[in-house]
Amino acid sequence: MIDYCSKTRTFTLNGKSFSYIMYVNEVGMLQNVYYGASVANDEYLTRVCAYGRSPKPDDLNRDYVQDYVPFEYGAYGRGDFRAPSAVIVRKDGFCASRLLYKSHKIYDGVPEVAGMPHARSGGKTLAVTLKDELSPAEITLNYTVWDDSDVLVRNAVIKNTGKEKFVLDRAYSFCTALPDHDYDFMRLQGRWANERIPETTPLGHGTVRIESSRAASSHVMNPFMALIRKNCSESTGECIGINLIYSGSFVLTAECSQDGNLRIQGGINELGFSWTVDGGDSFVTPQAALCYSADGLGHMSREFADFYRDRIINRQKAFARRPIVINNWEGTYFDFDREKLFSIIDAAAPLGIDTFVLDDGWFGKRDSDTSGLGDWFVNTKKLDGGLAAVAERCRKNGMKFGLWFEPEMISEDSDLYRAHPDYAIGKRGVEPCRGRNQLVLDFTRSEVVDHVFRVVSDILESCDISYVKWDMNRNITEFFSASLDAERQGELAHRYILGVYDLAERLTSKFPDVLFEGCAGGGGRFDGGMLYYFPQIWTSDDTDAYERTKIQWGTSLCYPVSAMSCHVSACPNHQTQRTIDFSTRGIIASLGTTGYELDPSKLCEKEKALVKTQIEDYKKIAELVLRGDLYRLINPYVDNYFCEMLVSKDKNHAYLAGERFHGVPCDYDMFFKLEGLDPDKKYMVKELGITAYGKTLMHAGLLLPRLPDFTGFAWHIDAV
Ligand code: GLA
Repeated sequence: MIDYCSKTRTFTLNGKSFSYIMYVNEVGMLQNVYYGASVANDEYLTRVCAYGRSPKPDDLNRDYVQDYVPFEYGAYGRGDFRAPSAVIVRKDGFCASRLLYKSHKIYDGVPEVAGMPHARSGGKTLAVTLKDELSPAEITLNYTVWDDSDVLVRNAVIKNTGKEKFVLDRAYSFCTALPDHDYDFMRLQGRWANERIPETTPLGHGTVRIESSRAASSHVMNPFMALIRKNCSESTGECIGINLIYSGSFVLTAECSQDGNLRIQGGINELGFSWTVDGGDSFVTPQAALCYSADGLGHMSREFADFYRDRIINRQKAFARRPIVINNWEGTYFDFDREKLFSIIDAAAPLGIDTFVLDDGWFGKRDSDTSGLGDWFVNTKKLDGGLAAVAERCRKNGMKFGLWFEPEMISEDSDLYRAHPDYAIGKRGVEPCRGRNQLVLDFTRSEVVDHVFRVVSDILESCDISYVKWDMNRNITEFFSASLDAERQGELAHRYILGVYDLAERLTSKFPDVLFEGCAGGGGRFDGGMLYYFPQIWTSDDTDAYERTKIQWGTSLCYPVSAMSCHVSACPNHQTQRTIDFSTRGIIASLGTTGYELDPSKLCEKEKALVKTQIEDYKKIAELVLRGDLYRLINPYVDNYFCEMLVSKDKNHAYLAGERFHGVPCDYDMFFKLEGLDPDKKYMVKELGITAYGKTLMHAGLLLPRLPDFTGFAWHIDAV
């Protein structure tokens, strides 16, 4: 899987169907040779270096030569004028670097990434250490590959081997180079209630840069980019997807240099970032997952889905059946008391819903979003008998109980703020920007994280709670911590995320039986970092069954469907005012971890019967959602229909679900092709009464169903 040839000084990494080759060039610098579909490491590859220009010893101090080399990590100020991967500022302000190969090791397993989410197990790792010729920095580049995966995981560790401290003004996770820039650049952009919308633009010369500087991965831009060949479709053509396993401020860039090759790199956003590394200390960067696909975007997505399920999400949780929840947020907002909650629980239980999740408003003085955050004790005025009474009502109904928290936040109108105003991030004397009327707790301080850990633990121990929805509803402004020295204020955003990870690690370890769901004003922090702790994330506050086809399509480009929490909500939809029939809402919510977001006591008998059937049907496909492979068949951004398909790994079972949008004449006279089936197996499409070979269904296809506007369809396909 990983070989080193000492003759050519070449490293060859092979995953399931890709190769990644690098070599230490004549002047001792590590450069890329090849990244793409599996190849043999034929000697000529390195000799010719495929595309890269390899500097000769005489070239070392010629700047125009450095600028062409496809380095594996970009140094600053020594002839390479492309964006660097790290900037190391010494005491006197000098910050030029040249990185030379020092040593390497190859070992079984994954590297330690203390305090941060990371690939958990298996694999083989290559660690190449580069020495900065001009500073005491040593940079170790880690590369992990697996035989059964097309994902390559990378990060960089920057060590100060000297006595004097230096400052990192930039410290990216990875850098690599591709020989040409004949790609389009795909990103997942969005905003609140409209997250992860794929947008693809051509690359030109210069840099395409996507980023977040919010100390959260954000609604606006997901830490994902893909480089896509012009002929790349869902099922054919080359692409490379890159996803940071990180939840804070990030950057990902693709820079086409003067000779046309492409430097791609990224990691923590350098905007507002600096990190002081004392002598002997190291700075560890977050991991990045790179996925090469020769078979289109669909293969890339399935590889990412397997990677997250097998190697990032907690093993005990990744493949465990998820509860089917009823969440009261859209049913009641802040307007509830104990009797109202009881009526929701009593109405939900007979429908087959198994968990009641009590959302915002149960604690402190929280009757609106202006107060109470930080006061994690139950409001007994609202909830007579406290949480125990609600938990007991659930138990009596054979249901479990879940609870909403927003652990990272503080309201100025709260007991916590009155006691500890300094717990909030911000600068004394500067009027803070308020997002949703609240401030952010300073999670760079261990006493703040300890406090939240204690109070949340107390609540989780106070009664039988099996589910937590962990929300986060605003981003950081006025970056300033009362506990950091002036020179370390630039560390706040990353330290904050480390504090979030620390709390998540401690709570999930202390309460291993509790299922934690992530949330951030909907999907404002839907990333690989969060998935390490939370096997599912609230996908979006927009639950409209038309909008959701687009949001879920975009999200599925790099995250598994089981990670997408998808609820049926009331109509007219609270975000779009659109009314879509109840069964279509159920079908779209079945393409993820399903649940309900409404007041079930207000449902009519017909709708109640539908909920029952939806849940029974969902249980039949739950394993496909957890373990299946996703095939995106009809693109809702392009077509008048949406359709996706989940296929079991053994190809014996499949579930196809879709929706027709605005009727146009005769669009239903068209065939669409299924994917992912075994060509030589015979299948029954239950709802159509059709029996056919996989190859017929995949090459001839099926007719689009004749349906009214915004109507869904769901078909079960089983080998016979
Ligand atoms: C965020 C979440 C919602 C809900 C509210 C409660 O907006 O995305 O689902 O929990 O907060 O305030």
